[in-house]
Amino acid sequence: MPDRAIGIFDSGVGGLTVLRELRRQMPHEELVYLGDTARVPYGTKSPQTVGRYAREAARFLVGQRVKLLVVACNTASAVAVDDLAAIHRLPVVGVIQPGARRALEVTRSGRIGVIGTEGTIRSRAYERALHRGNPDIEVCAAPCPLFVPLAEEGWAEHPIARLAAAEYLEPLLRQGIDTLVLGCTHYPLLKRTLQEVAGPTVALIDSAEETAKTVAILLAAQGLERRGLPSGPPRYFVTDVAERFERVGGAFLGAPLADVTTVTLD
Ligand code: DGL
Repeated sequence: MPDRAIGIFDSGVGGLTVLRELRRQMPHEELVYLGDTARVPYGTKSPQTVGRYAREAARFLVGQRVKLLVVACNTASAVAVDDLAAIHRLPVVGVIQPGARRALEVTRSGRIGVIGTEGTIRSRAYERALHRGNPDIEVCAAPCPLFVPLAEEGWAEHPIARLAAAEYLEPLLRQGIDTLVLGCTHYPLLKRTLQEVAGPTVALIDSAEETAKTVAILLAAQGLERRGLPSGPPRYFVTDVAERFERVGGAFLGAPLADVTTVTLD
């Protein structure tokens, strides 16, 4: 088991921010990534549809003989983590629990902002995770649908991104949040813009970083860490045209990305 890969999936390129952190924190682990590019975005779809997509993606990765599954998509994590853990006899890590746990450690005022896709915010999954840790926390949540296309366009630090951030964050800042959870895989790319708009007193929580820490702890606890030689490059699969994934994904990964295989999930 320890020599098997970690399987990671997302609706598209966003989960590469999680893969990048996994690689940085665990350079010995083999990684297999699936981007469901034929059906992106998940953020605007119903929980039933996202749940079905997540089951199909997980089945594909389990077929690649992985030892652990990372649901590297907030929208899918909001609806599918428990379901996938029940179906597959593997540890399944989503991105919501780790981000919520870190936000609870960081906040001092007890007012936490959460931003994400419409689906993630509608699901109230972060709110539930935060209240499980501390029922007295005040949660201010806002969907920020324009951030996904802005990040994919390479405009994360463009004046348009700053304008959109000011508009989206205004109600959260007015309520006095001191912590802001980046509840979408694309948002770490906008960190600089978001920090500028939110100001230095607001701590940004990057779910990708926290998720990678959770995976490391889980692998160590279960004796599943891969040892010995450094891993090979990650293997990438997509469900539609690889060219865009390679081009846009390179920015998310912070490195060129190649050798992408197109597959169908059925
Ligand atoms: N990966 C998605 C998430 O983290 C964002 C993109 C989408 O809507 O599919 O929620």
